[in-house]
Amino acid sequence: MIEVSQLTRVFRTYKKVPGFWGGVKGLFHRTFEETAAAKDISFTIGEGEFVGFLGPNGAGKTTTLKMLSGLIYPTSGTARVAGFDPTKRENAYRRLFALVLGQKNQLWWDLPAIESFNLLRAIYAIPEAQFKATLDELVDLLTVREKLNVMVRELSLGERMKMELIAALLHRPRVLFLDEPTIGLDVVSQRAVRQFLRDYNRRHRVTILLTSHYMADIKELCERVIVIHKGRKIYDGALGRLENAGGAKKKIITFLPAASASGAFPETWQSRFGETKRADDGKFTLRVPGENVVAVSQEILSTGPVADITIEDVPLEDVIAELFSTQA
Ligand SMILES: Nc1ncnc2c1ncn2[C@@H]1O[C@H](COP(=O)(O)OP(=O)(O)OP(=O)(O)O)[C@@H](O)[C@H]1O
Ligand SMILES: [Mg+2]
Repeated sequence: MIEVSQLTRVFRTYKKVPGFWGGVKGLFHRTFEETAAAKDISFTIGEGEFVGFLGPNGAGKTTTLKMLSGLIYPTSGTARVAGFDPTKRENAYRRLFALVLGQKNQLWWDLPAIESFNLLRAIYAIPEAQFKATLDELVDLLTVREKLNVMVRELSLGERMKMELIAALLHRPRVLFLDEPTIGLDVVSQRAVRQFLRDYNRRHRVTILLTSHYMADIKELCERVIVIHKGRKIYDGALGRLENAGGAKKKIITFLPAASASGAFPETWQSRFGETKRADDGKFTLRVPGENVVAVSQEILSTGPVADITIEDVPLEDVIAELFSTQA
C-alpha cells in the first residue's frame, strides 16, 4: 500500500550571523545551513497494517508524513501510496488518504463541526446517503453527537480532536497518516481516541501510519514500528522485538525500611547486580535480564530487611531512549 524508497528531504535555512554587522554582511553574502529532515528512508507497508512511526523531536516524522501527503516535495527518492505518486496531487489520490495533524486545526473555528462536515461533503462530492451513514457511524463511535452543533472554538480539546478525526474520515480514505492525534489530551480522551482507531482499523482495514510521543498509543495499537533518528531509519520491525532489544530487562524496585535505608548492604547489591540506582527515600532500583528476576529477587529478600518489592518491565520509553543514545 505504501512504498517509500530512499526518501530524502533537505531543508535549506538562512543562517543569521548575530549582531548588526552580521546582519549587514547577510545582505550581501547569505550563508545557508542544510538540514536533512529525512535521509534515505525506505520502507513498505501492507494494506490494513497499523504502523507506529517513532522518533524524538525533530527526527523527521512530520516531514515524512507531509511528503507522503504531497504537501512538501522530496529532495530525492520516491514514494508511492496505493500506486499514486503523492507529488502529483491527483484528485483520485486526495480521495484515497487523509492526514491528521494533532498540532493543527483543519476545521473551521467559528462554525459548528456539522457545518464543516457539510462543506467537506460538498468538496469531496460524497453522496448524501453514504455521508449520512458514515457520519452516523463516526459520531456514535466517538460519542460526540450532542456536540455537532457547538461552535468548534467552544469544544474541549478532546472533543475537537474527535471532530478532526471525523472530518478526516468522512470521505472514507484507505490510508491514514496520523501525526500525534492524541497530543495534549487527558487520559480518558486519549483512551477513547485509541480505542476508536483500533476499532476503525479493524473494521475497515485502512492502512495507518501513526506518530505519537505517548508509548501507550503505540503499545496498544501497533505491532510494527519504524523508528527514525536525525532523519534516518534506525529500526523497522516488531514492537516486541524492540522492547526486548535491551535483553528483556526487568526492573526490580525494593523499598528498604527507614532504619536501614542508609545501611551498608545495598552497596553489595550494587557490586553484585551491576545496573542499580538508589534514591534518597530508600528506593532501590535494579535492572536485570528477565531470566534472572526470580533468582535476584530471592537473594534480595533473603539478604536483609525489605519493606516492599515490585517487579516491572522496563518502560518502552526507556528502551527507545537508550536506542537513541546509542546512535551518534
Ligand atoms: N519548513 C522547514 N524549514 C526548515 N526546516 C524544517 C522545516 N520543517 C522541518 N524542519 C526541520 O526538519 C527537522 C525534522 O522536523 P520534523 O517536524 O519532521 O520532526 P518530527 O520528527 O515531526 O518532530 P516532533 O516530534 O517534534 O514533531 C527538524 O530539524 C526541523 O527543524
Ligand atoms: Mg512532528
